[in-house]
Amino acid sequence: MAPFLLFTLGLAFVGNALTARAGQEGATASIARADGIKLRKCLGTTKKVPTKWPSDNDWDVYAATYNIRVPVTPAAIAVPKTVQDISNALFCADQNGFKVQAKSGGHSYASFSSGGVDGALVIDLQNFQSVIVDSKTGIARVAGGIRLGNMATALYKQGKRALAHGTCAGVGIGGHFTHGGYGFTSRAWGLAMDQIVGLDVVLANGTSLYATSKQNSDVYYGMRGAADSMGIAVNFYLQTQAAPSTVVNFNVDISDAMQSTDSAVAAFLTIQDFVHNKNSKAVDRKLAFSLSLQWNQFIISGTYLGTLKDFNANIKPAMVKGLPNPSVQARELDWLSSLKDLNDDKPLEISSPYKDQSNFFAKSDVNFAAFEHRTGLWVAQHYAYVDNDADFPGEGIDYINNLNDALSQGVPGYQAYENYVDPTLSVTEAHNLYYGPSLYRKLKALKAKMDPKNLFSNPFSV
Ligand SMILES: Cc1cc2nc3c(=O)[nH]c(=O)nc-3n(C[C@H](O)[C@H](O)[C@H](O)COP(=O)(O)OP(=O)(O)OC[C@H]3O[C@@H](n4cnc5c(N)ncnc54)[C@H](O)[C@@H]3O)c2cc1C
Ligand SMILES: *[C@@H]1O[C@H](CO)[C@@H](O)[C@H](O)[C@H]1NC(C)=O
Repeated sequence: MAPFLLFTLGLAFVGNALTARAGQEGATASIARADGIKLRKCLGTTKKVPTKWPSDNDWDVYAATYNIRVPVTPAAIAVPKTVQDISNALFCADQNGFKVQAKSGGHSYASFSSGGVDGALVIDLQNFQSVIVDSKTGIARVAGGIRLGNMATALYKQGKRALAHGTCAGVGIGGHFTHGGYGFTSRAWGLAMDQIVGLDVVLANGTSLYATSKQNSDVYYGMRGAADSMGIAVNFYLQTQAAPSTVVNFNVDISDAMQSTDSAVAAFLTIQDFVHNKNSKAVDRKLAFSLSLQWNQFIISGTYLGTLKDFNANIKPAMVKGLPNPSVQARELDWLSSLKDLNDDKPLEISSPYKDQSNFFAKSDVNFAAFEHRTGLWVAQHYAYVDNDADFPGEGIDYINNLNDALSQGVPGYQAYENYVDPTLSVTEAHNLYYGPSLYRKLKALKAKMDPKNLFSNPFSV
């Protein structure tokens, strides 16, 4: 696997906005109501699947999207307790003409786990939380609705095991592990997705199967990159690692570089040279970092899977060489303390109901994606947010799009990252950037086999 590093370009907008949210009333409301009654009868009376409806008192808690900027209202939210409930929910959706999306952590940038457009049946996996590590093989069976922080804590409690994944504890396994997934340990252990050795999947027709590289291998392939279009992962079988006994979390502030464009570019190129230097003993898979450019700050932050003594002696001097006035902070931590620190020092274990939200727009330039695109050096993310109670300004979208265009023009053949799904793309653009034409054709053929009636649907699904 090629080294990849995160490169975040951030911009924060705070304040009142000019744009109003588009109303979502449709002329088809009465038809939808009639179908809704049939759906309710099927889920509630015939199949007895636990389900939340818009008239329920706690509907808003279940229906809230993480991204406030992209509100989407489902027809209903099934909250299954068993795999049979999931199968029954799929049956009811199919019988009554509803589209389906699974919801795990709900962190989709485009609210795809709420359907992406109004009127879908959401299958909320919050009852699917178990984590069991096989001490002989180190393979963990992890249920498809757990959040990363809860998963990491449970793994560590069972023999100090660990996985590579993103830094935000509230993100769910279901979207993150099936559409890529990376964090600082990904340079050592791979993408979150690369650790999947098997999957229990519920298919569109309600049957369940176990998929690996040898058994039902086409399902295994399609679920690792296009699960939103293919099936519902109820259990992940994941190859865990021994958690490192010490991790160094570091920040290097080089904000002096922000005095001019030239000095910022020079600092970036110095870092890129450091990363590229094959003779450097400092760059190995134990070292990973991201660059964050926000306001007038330029910060390198990351982790080193080793001791502070080693970091100070061997890594730090090479890493900061040639950078303007670097100010280094580094701490040696145990595994869970390192993860908590990366989660803005907020607790890793999160209980229901989950209340965090954000009001944002982001897009990515990347040279790796869920399947083939793995040779790139950087992942760039452009991210803007406003206060939760503000309307997101149209200028914010333009600004981020322009920033992204400026960067991608210098990167021939750039791709985008599905886990940073950008709802302002056209469908064709999305398929080209996330998959590319030949992979898209392959996935389309697989979709025709696995989900011929297109039950698993969102605006960019295959
Ligand atoms: C605050 C924040 C921090 C983030 N940090 C990182 C990071 O460090 N690294 C990184 O790589 N990404 C990061 N991301 C992006 C993140 O990986 C994606 O948003 C991811 O898809 C979220 O997973 P989820 O289960 O929470 O999403 P959901 O919104 O629940 O689901 C996303 C998509 O996956 C589908 N899906 C969910 N569960 C299943 C399932 N069990 N089976 C089949 N399909 C399913 C949904 O239908 C939907 O289409 C971050 C996002 C946010 C909002
Ligand atoms: C369900 O779909 C799968 C995948 O297409 C297929 O192999 C299986 O036979 C189907 N099961 C039923 C009961 O139709």
